Amino acid sequence: MSLTDQELISHLQSIVGAEQVITAPADLEPYLIDWRKRYRGQAIAALRPANTQEVSEIVKLCAANLIAIVPQGGNTGLCGGATPNATGRQVVISLQRMNKVRAVDTSNQTITVEAGVVLQTLQEEAAKADRYFPLSLGAEGSCMIGGNLSTNAGGTSVLRYGNTRELCLGLEVVLPNGDILNSLRGLRKDNTGYDLRDLFIGAEGSLGIITAAVMKLFPIPVAQWTALVATPSAERAVELLNRFQAGASAQLTGFEMMSDESLALLKHYYPALASPLAGENPYEVLVEISDYESSEHAMQLMENILEGALESGCASDAIVASNIAQARKFWDMREHIPLAQADDGPNIKHDVSLPISAIPAFIKTCNALLKTKYPTIRVINYGHLGDGNLHYNVAGPTSAETESFFTTYSKEIQAMVYAEVERLNGSISAEHGVGQQKVDYLQGHRGNAAFHLMQSIKKAIDPNNLMNPGKVINL
Ligand code: FAD
Ligand code: MLT
Ligand code: ZN
Repeated sequence: MSLTDQELISHLQSIVGAEQVITAPADLEPYLIDWRKRYRGQAIAALRPANTQEVSEIVKLCAANLIAIVPQGGNTGLCGGATPNATGRQVVISLQRMNKVRAVDTSNQTITVEAGVVLQTLQEEAAKADRYFPLSLGAEGSCMIGGNLSTNAGGTSVLRYGNTRELCLGLEVVLPNGDILNSLRGLRKDNTGYDLRDLFIGAEGSLGIITAAVMKLFPIPVAQWTALVATPSAERAVELLNRFQAGASAQLTGFEMMSDESLALLKHYYPALASPLAGENPYEVLVEISDYESSEHAMQLMENILEGALESGCASDAIVASNIAQARKFWDMREHIPLAQADDGPNIKHDVSLPISAIPAFIKTCNALLKTKYPTIRVINYGHLGDGNLHYNVAGPTSAETESFFTTYSKEIQAMVYAEVERLNGSISAEHGVGQQKVDYLQGHRGNAAFHLMQSIKKAIDPNNLMNPGKVINL
């Protein structure tokens, strides 16, 4: 016989303690809505376990009573993956309290952390040990490493250090039946059978709950130089990237692109972050070079490449940050664009990846298609050009009209943009994931063979579909 909600709650309380089972509407509210306020759900409760054993016991109880689970980290995800559905029959498991650093191992260049460690804390813990943890993104003050792993987050240093997947050596995961899978040995080579770790990275909580991870550490660069560079077009921005790749090779650690419309929106909502470059440039690029030799060596490299770029015309103006505060300001400009968009109202978000060389054509064709049909729309595009990852966001004509524009045209605009992505052999989710936002597009995008294999994996690991159902993959 199944438990009543009250019986379930009292069992959950006996596992995690009464105060860690959140049911009061006002306290539950933040767990029921996503960062963009596009998705809202209901839940029996939000649970805040203190350790892996408690997570395992909760999962066993839920499995026995067929209660679905939504794992949640910092709740900064952009695809509605961490939001429960509307049935009110799910529980949210928040990893917030599992925020211990279990070990820092400088001999093996690793750090072992629980899933609820905030990304910025992880970076700071690495720095305390005189090491560098390179994953960096605008939400780093609140997203958590378990969420980063579950979305395989990208961010601004992928072109040098890779996505979160490449930074991970092992995981601890609570499986849908409550068993604990432990691969926290931190080995750099291990070819014993199928790679289970990589199944859970990027699974968005649909296969299990990540409770801890071993992450790679790196030496801290001796120097970093950051420049803001104006470029006359997206084509020339790609040319500029090629120059930096050829000239700086692995020392190129950041290459971000911002369109004029992104910069205008930034200036409107955050005037202190207006670009210091003169005039209105079609695109501005943020470049970072890191160096393990000396500050002078890095500066020389930056100056040489910029000199060539200005001569060739792929750069029309440039400012090299003269101190850390100015470099921070350039990064703040880039990281505040999504915040300016959030202030402006909802936008139709596209997180696409393409062969880098195809990005200018993609922007041109999509702009032409969309602006013919909706002449007054605003296209805010920016992104990680060095990774071929563009955030091509479409907003209504004015801030006041964004909500109704979003509701009316989201589906058809998304379909137009995704058709262009397919034509150019790109991906409809570069780094944010699928969540509930793109779940209906997965089969069409990946094709039947991949989709059916993914369904088989999901059914084998989670036969009762209790781990984040309705996210990533439809069964
Ligand atoms: P949540 O939002 O809580 O969850 C995300 C998904 O992972 C959900 O499906 C959830 O169920 C699942 N999940 C969370 N924790 C676990 C766990 N322990 N075990 C299993 N499943 C789990 N993303 C990028 O890739 N690059 C960027 O540059 C970037 N910039 C951003 C800037 C801003 C301002 C914002 C708001 C978001 C940005 N994001 C970016 C998106 C977001 O920050 C990332 O997706 C991040 O990795 C999510 O982490 P989180 O802890 O907030 O996860
Ligand atoms: C970014 O690159 O700024 C993030 O992915 C966030 C976003 O696209 O909104
Ligand atoms: Zn991004």
